[in-house]
Amino acid sequence: MKTIKDVSLSGRRVLVRVDFNVPLNERGEVVDKTRITAALPTIQYLTQNGARVILVSHLGRPKGEKNPKYSLKPVAKALEALLGQSILFCEDCLGEDVKKTAENLRDGEVILLENVRFYKGETDNDPAFARSLASCAEAYVNDAFGTAHRAHASTVGVTSYLSPCVAGFLIEKEITYLGDKISHPQRPLTVILGGAKVSDKISVIDALLEKADCMLIGGAMAYTFSAALGHPTGDSLVERDKLDVASRALAKAKKKNVEILFPVDHVVSSAVDFSSRSVGELKVVQEGEMPDGFGGVDIGPRTIELFTQRIANSKTVLWNGPMGIFEIPGCDQGTFAMAKAIAESPAISIVGGGDSISAIQKSGYASKVSFMSTGGGASLEYLEGKVLPGIAAMDA
Ligand code: 3PG
Repeated sequence: MKTIKDVSLSGRRVLVRVDFNVPLNERGEVVDKTRITAALPTIQYLTQNGARVILVSHLGRPKGEKNPKYSLKPVAKALEALLGQSILFCEDCLGEDVKKTAENLRDGEVILLENVRFYKGETDNDPAFARSLASCAEAYVNDAFGTAHRAHASTVGVTSYLSPCVAGFLIEKEITYLGDKISHPQRPLTVILGGAKVSDKISVIDALLEKADCMLIGGAMAYTFSAALGHPTGDSLVERDKLDVASRALAKAKKKNVEILFPVDHVVSSAVDFSSRSVGELKVVQEGEMPDGFGGVDIGPRTIELFTQRIANSKTVLWNGPMGIFEIPGCDQGTFAMAKAIAESPAISIVGGGDSISAIQKSGYASKVSFMSTGGGASLEYLEGKVLPGIAAMDA
């Protein structure tokens, strides 16, 4: 895969696909700028090297209709502040106005186009739409790792009409950390997986059992494993139809000599109310002693100690998924403890998934992590070993 370092884009109009799919609050302000910040090195490199930058992104899923709720205008404001440079915002992503604005761009100037998903042709990867989108530019850079698992017009279709098609620094970095550093890790490699469902992560578990030395499993998905082992799980969230999947993963771990550690104790609660973010009575119970009328909401203190020790003795750590119902106070200790353990470990640390990243950020340890992936579904698919269409479409 070629990158922006391999080509000269000076004086050329470059369509740059970024992933500015960021959360906005009710006032329409960007509440998490991580993805915008992550795109800055590529944008700055291009502007400093005389390229004329035309940024294109989606925001949310407006289903092919123009909807102000999904406008990228607030992102333009946030980007301008982060970049320290004024940028032009186009109220559309194609058409005569866009073409004219692009033609009038000078070296080092930046335009942000309106949400590309305001057109159905984007998600349909419609060739005519891709051609119109591409017509404002001469060359293409993809730096939208978070959207690289989508074969859409702005990630794949446009590459038929622009040349060169090269990757930006963010895609390069994501591949280095999620690819090389996991496939050829400094050992031991410990993978920490959490989240609600085994079914969401089964392909990742399967792929990572080929690479890891140790796997720490927390979150509600641990209860499905617990049930597969025949242990009582009380009222915990268990995917009854996935017990065979969990058993197969356990058998594979044994065959591959990967040590899988599950919680040895749990924080349990008599009730959970997501709307008011509250729980009933909380207590700590040992694995195998989960009482009826209580469900697991977090890993317990002995598990925190056990997992922390493993992380401290690792040379590479990959974390994806919270250890408990992280959004509810009282059920967040396990997740925060993982953030702390990773930050304090000398290991190369790679964190992915919205909840794990938000835990690291809230705990104040973000700067101690080697790499935080900007991809959700894209990171998981990449870790599963899938070829991401947005990456496959780049010049080799
Ligand atoms: C994401 O947030 O994971 C990416 O921006 C992709 O968004 P999508 O799932 O709506 O395609």
